[in-house]
Amino acid sequence: MSKEYPPDKNFSEKAYVKSVEEYYEIYKRSIEDPNTFWLEKAKDLDWIKFPTKSFNWINKDRKVFSWFEDGTINACYNCVDRHLKEDSEKTALTWISHDLKETKKINYKQLHELVSKFSNVLKSKGVKKGDRVSIYLPMIPELIIAVLSCARIGAVHSVIFAGYSVPTIKDRIDFAESKLLITSDGSYRNGKVINFIEDINLALEGNPTIESKIIIRRVNLDLQLKENEYFWDQEINSENISKDCDCETMKAEDPLFILFNSGTVEKPKGTLHTTGGYLLYVNQTFKYNFDYHKSDVYFCTADIGWITGHSYMIYGPLSNLANVIMFEGIPTYPDNESYWKIIQDHKVNIFYTAPTVVRSLMRFGKEPLKKYNLESLKLLGSVGEPINPEAWFWYYENVGNGKCPIVDTWWQTESGGFLIAPFPGAFNLKPGFATKPFFGIEAEILRDDFSKAEIDEPANIVIKKPWPGMMRTIYKDHQLFLDIYWSKFKDYYFCGDRAKVDKDGDYFIIGRLDDVIKVSGHRIGASEVESALVSNKNVGEAAVVPFLHKIKGQAMYAFIILREGIVISDNLVEELREHVSKEIGPIAKPDKIQVVKALPKTSSGKIIRRILRAIAYDSEDYGDLSTLVNPETIEQIKLKKL
Ligand code: WT7
Repeated sequence: MSKEYPPDKNFSEKAYVKSVEEYYEIYKRSIEDPNTFWLEKAKDLDWIKFPTKSFNWINKDRKVFSWFEDGTINACYNCVDRHLKEDSEKTALTWISHDLKETKKINYKQLHELVSKFSNVLKSKGVKKGDRVSIYLPMIPELIIAVLSCARIGAVHSVIFAGYSVPTIKDRIDFAESKLLITSDGSYRNGKVINFIEDINLALEGNPTIESKIIIRRVNLDLQLKENEYFWDQEINSENISKDCDCETMKAEDPLFILFNSGTVEKPKGTLHTTGGYLLYVNQTFKYNFDYHKSDVYFCTADIGWITGHSYMIYGPLSNLANVIMFEGIPTYPDNESYWKIIQDHKVNIFYTAPTVVRSLMRFGKEPLKKYNLESLKLLGSVGEPINPEAWFWYYENVGNGKCPIVDTWWQTESGGFLIAPFPGAFNLKPGFATKPFFGIEAEILRDDFSKAEIDEPANIVIKKPWPGMMRTIYKDHQLFLDIYWSKFKDYYFCGDRAKVDKDGDYFIIGRLDDVIKVSGHRIGASEVESALVSNKNVGEAAVVPFLHKIKGQAMYAFIILREGIVISDNLVEELREHVSKEIGPIAKPDKIQVVKALPKTSSGKIIRRILRAIAYDSEDYGDLSTLVNPETIEQIKLKKL
């Protein structure tokens, strides 16, 4: 039995939920009478028309549902305008440049003006309610302004992580049929300038829908504008652009954004989130799980290209009138102390990062931490992958000085917001446990045959009913939405994770059951990397599985069969890694590439990845081998294991 960490008394006294009994009392209400519960919670947002009902199955077989369907609202209004009465001078955004040399503060009033102006710029380019806008930007304030401006005028934003390569960018812009693209001339990475323009031009070749491009000058390349290209600064400062822009009235179920991610299918899929339910859900989870109070300074290290950035750098915090720290850079540049320096200089109270970051900074020992005053911290968050006990203790003892609760948040792009995470003033913490579900979330651990797992028995984690922040569909592919999330357990949502629950009702997330690999907390579909590999002329077949990596958590192990006559060499391995990087992005490069003669297969020719996964994990637990037609492959592959 691992040690438990009860909540700190002083923390609990000020917390929204002060004890586990109080949590259970509210949780019970949220499950027994969700309609009343969520309508009550909905009062925390400003609606144009307040909804009269909360959840509704429109078509249960097809999993079509709505939240607050007769309500109307605007997400940008809730993140910006409504705060002007309360505290317009409050800092909304503190931006810190990649080299830590520059800091920009934007208060709510300024944010309002910038967003209103940029909304008018978008309108002047013909963007209307329902149009899609693709955004490919580094971590600069314009990214948040662009997202909020889309929400203001009812355009659907589709942010593309600015580390993806040409084919991936292209797929995502084309698939969304975006009308406008917002990008920059480049970005700074590790002290170097990365040019975006060449890639963007390649990605837009043959694209029929983009009518204009707005470019932010971040790295000051000497750019000549082409037709239908505009500079952000010139547009926003133009005399014709007014400072006033009304917020569009949106139905609660109107789309707010599409966010593409990787999964078990070859092509990236666009997760679609809608307005009212999503906003309320991230507003509430941010408030309760981070126990956010108005004076707190909040620093989230995620990139806005991922859901964490959408939900917990923009919509959750800003709808709570938060002061958000946005850092353009990475934890190891200019040196490995940049996060600690930011926490000290900006008196950060809540710090939200990923286990991979903790592990990568652990390497440098405690010394760098000792140089900084981290006293302001009151809460530490974790996201993206299971946090191993070693990292948990290091984070707890050294960063949090043994006094900050660790809020381990389990959720997905699809869930919109936290599903299982501690209420920090109420729960005993156990390293590695995401603890208990948020209000309204009915979680269950089920075996493959639908029976309930015993206490402590690992099995599938499902959620029994939709919650307000849940995705509504996969953009332009509702059938895929049904197939991926609703086919294994009929009426229950299954995202692909394995977990167990202990006698206290605390959940421990073990990891993915499907072919999603979490590399440094980033989600990469094995099949996407496999198709990138076989698109190289030297590769005949490929199978990609995770292996345990000290810092990244998981990394990718590729087993490949080369084409006739091709011989492996260090150069070829490097070429293949580069090839994957060009097809998808540097984050998808396999760490290990092993050439094999044959892959373990079934009689119908399907690769049995679970065997490869066992080999990569140094495990003998291959599972059922009765369908394996070529058992000799196991020993052959093991013999040359990297
Ligand atoms: C998958 C979702 C969560 C937002 C960022 C990643 C894994 C996420 C945890 C956690 C254990 C976690 C799961 C999940 N995961 N958080 N606290 N403990 N596993 O979102 O890219 O959609 O990935 O990440 O496997 O299903 P995502």
